[in-house]
Amino acid sequence: MTELGCAISGWGAALPPTVVTNTNLEKLFDTSDQWIVERSGIRMRRAATGPFVEATPLAHPPGGLGTTSALAVEAGRRALDSAGATADEVALLVLCTTTPDQAIPATSAAVAHALGTGGGAMDLNAACAGFTYGLVTAASMVSAGIGKVLLIGAETMTSVTNWEDRTNAFLFGDGAGAVVLQPVSGPGSLLGWDLGVDGSLVELLYADHGSGMVMKGKEVFRQAVRATVDSATTALRQAKVSADDITLFVPHQANQRIMHAVASRLGIPVERIASVIEWTGNTSAASIPLALIDAADAGRLAAGDLVLLAGFGAGMTWASAVWRWGA
Ligand code: UT7
Repeated sequence: MTELGCAISGWGAALPPTVVTNTNLEKLFDTSDQWIVERSGIRMRRAATGPFVEATPLAHPPGGLGTTSALAVEAGRRALDSAGATADEVALLVLCTTTPDQAIPATSAAVAHALGTGGGAMDLNAACAGFTYGLVTAASMVSAGIGKVLLIGAETMTSVTNWEDRTNAFLFGDGAGAVVLQPVSGPGSLLGWDLGVDGSLVELLYADHGSGMVMKGKEVFRQAVRATVDSATTALRQAKVSADDITLFVPHQANQRIMHAVASRLGIPVERIASVIEWTGNTSAASIPLALIDAADAGRLAAGDLVLLAGFGAGMTWASAVWRWGA
């Protein structure tokens, strides 16, 4: 039997139109652009909801970008177009999100309906590690013969932001990034991976139903660096490659200081990091696809290049993947 691999054949991103700068946030709580930039590297983020988005139904009419599903649909449509694929060719839609539109049903149902995808659809919640969890899951299913998968990371983090908590409200933003995964003959793209979770760390970052996020920032920072370095190292070892072989490092965009600390410990030069955090903030499961897509659109990737994706998030979860571009 011929070996079945998996390749990324198209991608697309979507951001809500409202830009919230650090200076805008000075109206909500005691902070400054300088403090936020120094501590996080974030200058602005996009918001689908919250105090800077007009709270009128007309602000987000059907087809607007005010919900996780709307952002996911837009990114998914662009990814399908760029792959030259039609919606009915999709065998599975995986929506990675920690901010679903509703508790029931899964938001992927609405996204599948709006796009008209075939096959199944499911949500995957591994918080900020979600997209990499989804990539490993979806690539494995493509290799098992399921067909094409539309993999989307989409979030409205502003809907779970506590706008009175200056210690973390400045970190988060909204957006979506999507890729089409399709079968290819041969070994394909997923060369190594690592998935993990430590539920004893739940209290570091959580949001109860109907209330805003609570985060112990300093401890999350410490655990994030440790978990991401360990996880990426495991994935590199499994792929039998070294950090020197990595053309593009796509870390979860949580804090520029975390991204730089992880890259430095792995021995990856700063120039090889894919970064959009300056203008998107932390978009949770959308952050890695947004950074990957930005790098791909900027021509930073050629066929055969090795990409290292590494995310961590609430749970605590972590996930890494070594991916051969354009296989
Ligand atoms: O997807 C995973 C999500 N989360 C993360 O990755 C977050 C990880 N953690 C972080 O990124 C950092 O911990 C933060 C950026 C959230 C905070 O940076 P920090 O260097 O850990 O700052 P800190 O919490 O130790 O606060 C330092 C000072 C404090 O004042 P004192 O106690 O030193 O007088 C804070 O009260 O800065 C103060 N502070 C602020 N000042 C201005 C806290 N928030 C703000 C603010 N503006 N927004």
